[in-house]
Amino acid sequence: MDNILHDLFTFFEKMPRQGPGSIKLTNNLLQKFFHLLPPNPIGADMGSGSGAATLVLAEKAISVTAVDVHKPFLDELMRKASERKLDHLITPVVASMTDTKIAENSLDIIWSEGALFTVGLENALKYFSSILKKGGVLGFSDCFLFQKDTPDNVIAQWKEWDSNIKTVPDALKIAEGLGYRFLHAEAVTPEMWEESYFGPMEKVIESIEADKNSSAGLLERARINRKEAKFFRENNAYYGYMFLILQKI
Ligand SMILES: C[S@@+](CC[C@H](N)C(=O)[O-])C[C@H]1O[C@@H](n2cnc3c(N)ncnc32)[C@H](O)[C@@H]1O
Repeated sequence: MDNILHDLFTFFEKMPRQGPGSIKLTNNLLQKFFHLLPPNPIGADMGSGSGAATLVLAEKAISVTAVDVHKPFLDELMRKASERKLDHLITPVVASMTDTKIAENSLDIIWSEGALFTVGLENALKYFSSILKKGGVLGFSDCFLFQKDTPDNVIAQWKEWDSNIKTVPDALKIAEGLGYRFLHAEAVTPEMWEESYFGPMEKVIESIEADKNSSAGLLERARINRKEAKFFRENNAYYGYMFLILQKI
């Protein structure tokens, strides 16, 4: 692992969750589409991180394979799961979310919060379709541009972060082309970002800055994250996380 990646993981190991989201929203969305699932549903949380969403799935008695490339996140997930007596429902798997040992056509539900960008939306949707059962549900959140006439400074910043960022209509076109039906879209609001993500992030940044033993790399990571938070607060009319709920047809 290179130093930059090491500092990124070290920073996010200190966070209660690794991406913007809301336990309440995850709960509400699962509740809304729970009637589409069979009894004792089998699912996966792709790019689970330390399991913010995995634990919500397990609380609904879904058996979940939690897939992530970073083992320490999965270890932390299993620690929390064991505290809540949910560990019997969760199988942690260190793997890439597009290369798991999950059997074809075997899952009732796939969930993924803020993680599909790591492999690319199309790659993820293609692979997930192969392991979902017909009628299975896919719920995921990702960062999207909200409008076509995005200001130049936002376009320039996203070219640097992820030039593959899409609009929701573009994502739905890809999903429909791969055999999914659109069910629902809902925003992860700026208030949710503040509460679940930037609030805890500011505390992590302060503790890193206050620690005399923090490496230069970790201090740089803290600085980058503070800059990203500032950019989001100034420009969240133009981009943000959306949840999309799809069904394999
Ligand atoms: C922004 S975090 C979101 C984590 C979690 N879903 C949450 O909302 O807190 C992205 C996660 O994807 C994981 N990840 C990165 N590349 C991956 C891949 N190819 N396959 C599976 N997980 C991956 C990272 O380790 C990280 O935990």
